[in-house]
Amino acid sequence: MAKELVRVLVTGAAGQIGYALVPMIARGVMLGSDQPVILHMLDIPPAAEALNGVKMELVDAAFPLLKGVVATTDVVEACTGVNVAVMVGGFPRKEGMERKDVMSKNVSIYKSQASALEQHAAPNCKVLVVANPANTNALILKEFAPSIPAKNITCLTRLDHNRALGQISERLNVQVSDVKNAIIWGNHSSTQYPDVNHASVKTPSGEKPVRELVKDDGWLNGEFITTVQQRGAAIIKARKLSSALSAASAACDHIRDWVLGTPEGTWVSMGVYSDGSYNVPSGLIYSFPVTCHNGDWKIVQGLAIDEFSRKKLDLTGAELSEEKELAYSCLS
Ligand SMILES: NC(=O)c1ccc[n+]([C@@H]2O[C@H](COP(=O)([O-])OP(=O)(O)OC[C@H]3O[C@@H](n4cnc5c(N)ncnc54)[C@H](O)[C@@H]3O)[C@@H](O)[C@H]2O)c1
Repeated sequence: MAKELVRVLVTGAAGQIGYALVPMIARGVMLGSDQPVILHMLDIPPAAEALNGVKMELVDAAFPLLKGVVATTDVVEACTGVNVAVMVGGFPRKEGMERKDVMSKNVSIYKSQASALEQHAAPNCKVLVVANPANTNALILKEFAPSIPAKNITCLTRLDHNRALGQISERLNVQVSDVKNAIIWGNHSSTQYPDVNHASVKTPSGEKPVRELVKDDGWLNGEFITTVQQRGAAIIKARKLSSALSAASAACDHIRDWVLGTPEGTWVSMGVYSDGSYNVPSGLIYSFPVTCHNGDWKIVQGLAIDEFSRKKLDLTGAELSEEKELAYSCLS
């Protein structure tokens, strides 16, 4: 029997990530190769023509799983009946702008989109915020959509997680699919803490800890961390544009694992509403290691946190608390 249609919203769909993401969704990369989808694409009026061009290309690509496309600049039309919402649209920081000005623009976008989702999305809609500042945009969305359960609102740190796996695979010259259980703690910013203390690699003689195989704590505690933290800036330097295909791919990974489940023995990183686990302040959207089952995520509990890690968890948490304060100051 054919599966029920799933409606997927992509905001900022005329942008670079949107352009890479919508064909992935239409090909089944996000929800499975047997899942028919209807794409809802939202952008702002100055991008309406470009958005229509993306719609034309989606039609031209003749994706068998794509059962319809809504391309609109009307937020209510965009949000109506959606089961999954990927929030990529936002206001970028422009030269000479203060941090508070950018925050203020995004707070107002996420406040109004929160209300539209709350009123018009399908019940139990799963929300992924990609646009920066991703954690704080997600928090604002949560605060202004009180009837959407907090567990349904997440932000993207899977790109950072995948970058950590990629760096380990390059260093050890192993397949990236054989590396697992890295963790991104905290903010999707340069204070994030990429942690490999619990990560392992599948080898011909069984699973081995990353630290045992790398045999270079200096690199793991130094250059590895800064490379992952600064990878976004390195991509901008090289491409003169920010990462798009890897961000789109990570957004698909995030939703796919959330909906379809993480493999046994594997966790992934997701920005989720903190319940105080690992002594992280509650009331923040903070990236944790999670496992997913039956459409729900659960923070992995009981991992040992050494002194080095503790400091890094606290530092990125403090930055998020400060961002939250700044966001709230924009509301008044
Ligand atoms: N979390 C992550 O891992 C990650 C990674 C890469 C990029 N990002 C962020 O993702 C966002 C998008 O990146 P991009 O490269 O696609 O940017 P982009 O500028 O190419 O596209 C953004 C799009 O959003 C649209 N937009 C602006 N305001 C909107 C609104 N109110 N409603 C709907 N659409 C709106 C713009 O018109 C534009 O088409 C940025 O905020 C970027 O910093 C996050």
